[in-house]
Amino acid sequence: MITIAVAKGRMQDDALALLAAAGISLDVAEVASRKLALEDQTGKYRFIFVKPADVPVYVEHGIADCGVVGRDVLLESDADVLLPLDLGIAKCRLVVAAIDPKVISRSFGMLRVATKYARVTTAHFGARGIPVEVIPLSGSVELAPALGLADVIVDLVETGRTLRENGLQVVEEITQSTGRLVVNRASYQLKTEEIGCLTSALSGAIKGVTAA
Ligand code: PRP
Repeated sequence: MITIAVAKGRMQDDALALLAAAGISLDVAEVASRKLALEDQTGKYRFIFVKPADVPVYVEHGIADCGVVGRDVLLESDADVLLPLDLGIAKCRLVVAAIDPKVISRSFGMLRVATKYARVTTAHFGARGIPVEVIPLSGSVELAPALGLADVIVDLVETGRTLRENGLQVVEEITQSTGRLVVNRASYQLKTEEIGCLTSALSGAIKGVTAA
């Protein structure tokens, strides 16, 4: 059996739809339940549903053979996992946003940046020679500028609605993100055939061909 860790939240519905298109279906009632570990209808796959940042952890440690998680999360993680497939789901952008888009050019001292992405933020501003104080938050980051906690935020934008409704504008795009399949190094060697079946079924589904 192959264990797949799926990021809960914004990625989950797209991931399950793609897996269903690849012929790997879960029971709808079980998905709607609070169960955090489920088997698919063939019994070949076990799914565990975990917080996005924990997907690379479960996969690196071999608790899960594979994972489905956003590139944004992988950029923030230093987990040693294989990355065989861009699933093309849950497309979004990682951006710098502010109430006043000119805040960076007007800033003289430390720019205060609130984010869930401390590592990406440090690398982004470090590469541009802009001194920053990273203020780590775990959610609702869009509140920080209006409340005076930060000058700018680094966060994900999908539709742009959360930024708009909190009076923020995109200052610059750092990178783009989509859902990725990640694979444990040892599983890739030991379960070559099973993981090959999974990746080719997913590749077929990505191309719009429903695999058997
Ligand atoms: C993400 C992100 C934004 C929102 C953007 O949060 O942090 O808050 O989605 O989406 P939009 O551009 O479509 O409005 P997520 O839903 O992942 O929850 P979180 O704040 O708990 O991380």
